Formats: sequence, C-alpha cells, structure tokens
Amino acid sequence: MSIFRDIPPTAGLPLSIRELAAAYRNRHAGGLLAQDFQNFLGAPYAAVTCSGTSALYIICEALKELSPKRTILVPSFICPLVAFALRRAGFFIEPYDVGPRDFNGDAGRVAAACAANADIGTILINHLGGIPCDLTRFEQTIRATGLFVIEDCAQSFGALHKGRPVGTLGDFSFFSLAAGKGLTLYEGGVLAVNKNEHAALMDAKIRQLVKCDFRREARRILELLGYGLFYRPLLFWFVFTLPQLYWSRRGDDIKALREDFDSTFPVHAVSDFRKAAGHIAFPRIAGAIGSQREKAACYREALKNLPGLCILQEAAGDAATYPYVIALFDQPEKKLQALQAFAGAGLGVSQIYARALADYGYVQDSVPNRNSENARRLAERAITLSTSPFLKKSDIEKCIEIMHTVCGR
Ligand SMILES: Cc1ncc(COP(=O)(O)O)c(C=O)c1O
Repeated sequence: MSIFRDIPPTAGLPLSIRELAAAYRNRHAGGLLAQDFQNFLGAPYAAVTCSGTSALYIICEALKELSPKRTILVPSFICPLVAFALRRAGFFIEPYDVGPRDFNGDAGRVAAACAANADIGTILINHLGGIPCDLTRFEQTIRATGLFVIEDCAQSFGALHKGRPVGTLGDFSFFSLAAGKGLTLYEGGVLAVNKNEHAALMDAKIRQLVKCDFRREARRILELLGYGLFYRPLLFWFVFTLPQLYWSRRGDDIKALREDFDSTFPVHAVSDFRKAAGHIAFPRIAGAIGSQREKAACYREALKNLPGLCILQEAAGDAATYPYVIALFDQPEKKLQALQAFAGAGLGVSQIYARALADYGYVQDSVPNRNSENARRLAERAITLSTSPFLKKSDIEKCIEIMHTVCGR
C-alpha cells in the first residue's frame, strides 16, 4: 500500500506556503478575484461566495424576483448539494436524465417535461468532469418557454463550448473553489451573471443574504493553510485516503466518497486574505488546464481500443478541462474489479458520484424518483482517473497497465 505517495483523485491546484504568505501581504487585492472571473468570462457581473452551493442558492433567490415559476429541471447525475441549494430557496426539482455516455439531457424529454408542468421556469445544466454540456439541444424549448438557464460550472472553469467559455452560455452560472476543484480557497465559489439587466439584482441579493461569520471564516483560513501544507502526495494519504479507508471498511460508501452532505450549508462573507490567495494563483490555471488536457489525451489514446470501456470526452469543437477523466465500463462488475485492482496503488483512481441524485437518502424528500436510469448506470459503471499535477508519466503508464489487465488485454 502506498502511504507516503498518494496522488489526489482530482486536479486541485496546489498552493505553496509562499503564495499564502504573499496573499496575506497583499490581502487588499482580494477584490480582484471576482474581477479575474469577470474578465475571463467577459461577464457584466461576478462575485466570490463561500461555496458553489451558496452561489447557486443566491442565484435562485434572485430568480424568484424574475419569475413566479418555482420548478427547476435538474440533471439526474449531479452533486447532491445542488438539491440542498434549490430546496432552501424554495424551488421544486424535476430531474431530467443524463445521456448514457454523456451528461446532456434528451431534448425531446426536456420539452415534454416543460409541456407537462407549467411551473418549470428554469433549467440547470452541468458541465460535469469539465466536459461542456451541449446547451444548443435545448435551444428550441428555451426560446419557446422562456426558460432561464443556470450553468453548473463547479468542475469546469476554463472549458470551452464552440469557442465560448462555459459560464457564459446561459443566464447565470456558478463555479466551485472547493479543495480539489482546480483553483481553491479551500471552500469557495463564484457566481456570474451574463445579462446586464440582472447585475444590480444579483448584487442586491448578495448584500441581503451574505453575512459575516468570523468564526467560520477563521476556520476556513486555517483549513486553507492546512491545504497548503497537506495537499501533496507525501501527506495526502493521512488526510484523505485514511478516512476513506475507514468508512469503506465500515461499508459507508457515501462517507468514504465524502458525499455525506448537510443541508444547512453556510452563506457567509469570504475574507480578503482567502480571495487574495485565489487571485494570486489565478494566472496558473491556464497552464494547469493545459497539462490536464495532455494527461487526458494520453489516457484516451492508450485506452481507446479496450473492450467494454469508453473514455468520456467532449464533442468536436469543444475543449474540456478534465479535472479527472471518466472511464465508463459496460459492466458494473468491471468497475468493482478496477477499484479493487487500484486499491492501495496511490494512483488517484476514484469514482464520481455514488448514486443518481434521486437515490441519496438525504434528498429523497425533495427529488422525485424518476428519469434517472442513465444516471444509475453511470454511478454503477464509472471510475475516474486522476489528472492531478502530481501525477507523473510513469503513474499514467501504471494506470494504463492496470486498466489493460482489468479489461482483459
Ligand atoms: C457539479 C457540482 N455542482 C455543485 C457543487 C457544489 O459546490 P461546492 O462544493 O463549492 O459547494 C459541486 C461540488 O462538489 C459539484 O461538483
């Protein structure tokens, strides 16, 4: 078992203690992080929030001022925190199923759902795994019914759909700056508005809903410092893999995958120090994404002909960011075999979500149990291959070798 060299499962951007010290010295520059996002997106408004979840919650609170409709179409394979944000804002969830080998919904089914329920006023799309979702397929329905579009860009900052950055395709978007999500404040998020006419409303909502919470922010600052120290292969096993092993052995896959979320997420102000840490690391994102793409291409090339395996990738003309690579087996048994083969190897192989959204016990009262067949299929058959900056060429070669063995080649 690899204890002293354990690769993180996703491509979180490491932060050095030197960068954190520079962030402290330049904390007055914290306000520039929102500007970084706004400039990158060319958006009229962006703001830093304490999480992606709180960003979505604030967007939904603003939506209530724009439309009386209270039902949102949500993909069936998505982070359960999304359901918490929507429910807290008083919205109902109508799941639409993702594709069998992508995270796009079916245009006909989405149109039918809108025709059947006049309360549907918004569709949330998700660029999961940094792979741009194809919004154009819903264009007719969006135009015909005046749906608002929220983009969940929690995992996809920097991805391009037909040359346009994700986060600029719909009306509103949000990004996650949680640990492991690329650029990080340990916990954090960004919300963006794409139409001038919504900027003032969003700003007013932020002023109304976001409160100072010194104790929680102090804890986040300590966690960010801990991230600077521990987010490296030498120490990652102790802070991440050890608790994961503990919960796996106890048979709790939800806790092992850190999906034991709590509906009482905070909505508090982020300190200038943490924002400055994000601003200082921001220029490194482009290079990190380039390296993730190279690693993804390497996996794709080496695994493309393996029987019973599909490596998910973006549509032609799009550019995914690949914070990890999704390998989808035809058979659920193969996924289990693969996870066993990688256990203890320290190569960062993991899973996306343990369940379809409707199947998490803690959201069952708010997510109807329908339209989730493909999501269940993905949960049962997909593993993730790391594109972490710590992953070396020799690690990728080992991963490829193990995948060949699992797939019988
Ligand atoms: C697709 C997706 N949406 C939303 C979220 C919530 O973001 P955060 O953890 O920053 O609240 C996540 C985070 O795991 C996510 O992966």
